[in-house]
Amino acid sequence: MLSRLGAEFLAVGRISDRYFIRRCVTKITTNDGIKSPKPEYTSKRYSVKRGDFSCLEDRDIVFFKHLLDKNRVLTDPFDLEKYNVDWLKTVRGKSACVLKPRTTKEVSEIMRYCNEKKLAVVPQGGNTGLVGGSVPVFDEIVLSTELMTRFRISENNPAVVIAQAGCVLEKLDTALNQHNLMVPLDLGAKGSCHIGGNVSTNAGGVRVLRYRNLHGSVLGLEAVLADGTIFNGLSTNLKDNSGYDLRHLFIGSEGTLGVVTRVAILCSLRPKSVTTCLLAVPDFESLLKVFVVAKQRLGEIMSACEFMDSDSVACAKRNLGIEPPIQSRLYALLETHGMDSNHDEEKVDGFINQVMKEGLITDGILTSEPSKMKKLWEIRERLAEALRKEGYTYKYDVSLPFASFYKIVEVMRKRLPKTVITCCGYGHLGDNNLHFNVTTKEFDPTVLTRIEPFLYEYTKRCFGSISAEHGIGFKKRNYLYYSKNPAFVHMMAETKRTLDPNGILNPYKVLPDFEA
Ligand code: FAD
Ligand code: MLT
Ligand code: ZN
Repeated sequence: MLSRLGAEFLAVGRISDRYFIRRCVTKITTNDGIKSPKPEYTSKRYSVKRGDFSCLEDRDIVFFKHLLDKNRVLTDPFDLEKYNVDWLKTVRGKSACVLKPRTTKEVSEIMRYCNEKKLAVVPQGGNTGLVGGSVPVFDEIVLSTELMTRFRISENNPAVVIAQAGCVLEKLDTALNQHNLMVPLDLGAKGSCHIGGNVSTNAGGVRVLRYRNLHGSVLGLEAVLADGTIFNGLSTNLKDNSGYDLRHLFIGSEGTLGVVTRVAILCSLRPKSVTTCLLAVPDFESLLKVFVVAKQRLGEIMSACEFMDSDSVACAKRNLGIEPPIQSRLYALLETHGMDSNHDEEKVDGFINQVMKEGLITDGILTSEPSKMKKLWEIRERLAEALRKEGYTYKYDVSLPFASFYKIVEVMRKRLPKTVITCCGYGHLGDNNLHFNVTTKEFDPTVLTRIEPFLYEYTKRCFGSISAEHGIGFKKRNYLYYSKNPAFVHMMAETKRTLDPNGILNPYKVLPDFEA
């Protein structure tokens, strides 16, 4: 049973089976049976002007079928639909062709051909991206990595896995179990997102506060440039200062500078002792204090510090039928990863004792039993799915200092019209990363204009970032200046022009339409 915090908690409430298995298996697909109407074409909704690219011709299809085989070249409109619409069902392109290479060489041949013909290309992994970056805006060819699924442990370093871009995060992580390793990245979309997509978005997730982001754990990387050149930077060295560290250009560049084909990831040892606790916290001030106490008392074993407000949780209950075993205005969800359960237990007890004594929490649940941990995590990890069920989600992902962190949710509640179904905040508290979300039954441009650019202006004033982890993609490209100065954006554009002079790789994404 779960332990409820209270008088009896510290004496009898501990659970002995402290081994760790995978948490929440959330298979997220674009084809998940949700019956929402197809979104309007992106080019129409946002009045985008098509770039000067060629249109796909029959002879191009003949070339691709010759290069791959006909099963790996999709042209049937029914098959293409799921590659043209994003997970949120908010953007939609009209690509007439999806290519599924298996090897780096095939990716290189495709890119060489597309560059010569000036055909635009969108690299696509699991299509779980949340900023409209993974699907075409017009008729760009979709280059899907879904058949690039091989991986191996490096011969040079047994803690490094070398994986092709299309490895699904959760499958890769499960396979690493037998080596006592884990991918140092965990997010709600793990059942569908690809490691290449994770690297290309520099995905964050729930454990950044412990394992940092992919700029740290990706030791090496192989990518194919727009003209088909293979960039081989697949180093497995822990330290390498020989020249510019170009791998970082591809981490987080969202498919605009190259197609990531393989990555070398430094894995972490799988923890032997894991504890998850869900705490009821009365207000944001107490929540911040809980985080401070957690840092002091849990120290190096803290692996996640998430938060949710009651509107987020109510949305999960309404739409997915899941609810927390305790009730509160705000919730903190903490996790520890360690190697010695006695040591960890002592620390967790010290932490719980202190937050109870200081009156920072009103209730709580703590468990080390895998199925119970999974249930607690499910509430947090399925919030995006719950929100999506309400119709259209206006999804934001900002970095904010704590002084201004939750205030914006309260300000927004007052700004938004009554047609809004949910207006909520949750996110990666330990990383200063707020997920502010609003839903309406269908897309409503007036709601959008109440949020944007107001939220971005607020973020800029607070010296935050308009994207903490989801990236810029299509939706935020014209707001980039709220986080980056003109000289910075100019340098980004110059880098793009150098690596992709014809601009064929993921056009209309990341870079603003106009340079300031
Ligand atoms: P896609 O969606 O297919 O693509 C994303 C971008 O990367 C696109 O611009 C695409 O062109 C590019 N790309 C994909 N593969 C390649 C490649 N091989 N080479 C070059 N470019 C490529 N994100 C977080 O950061 N933290 C979270 O906690 C988080 N939780 C999520 C929870 C849910 C339920 C969902 C649906 C999404 C979540 N996301 C989160 C967003 C998303 O899962 C991540 O951005 C993920 O890294 C995308 O991986 P993907 O394989 O689905 O990429
Ligand atoms: C999360 O942390 O749950 C993801 O980033 C998805 C979201 O923002 O909804
Ligand atoms: Zn997130």
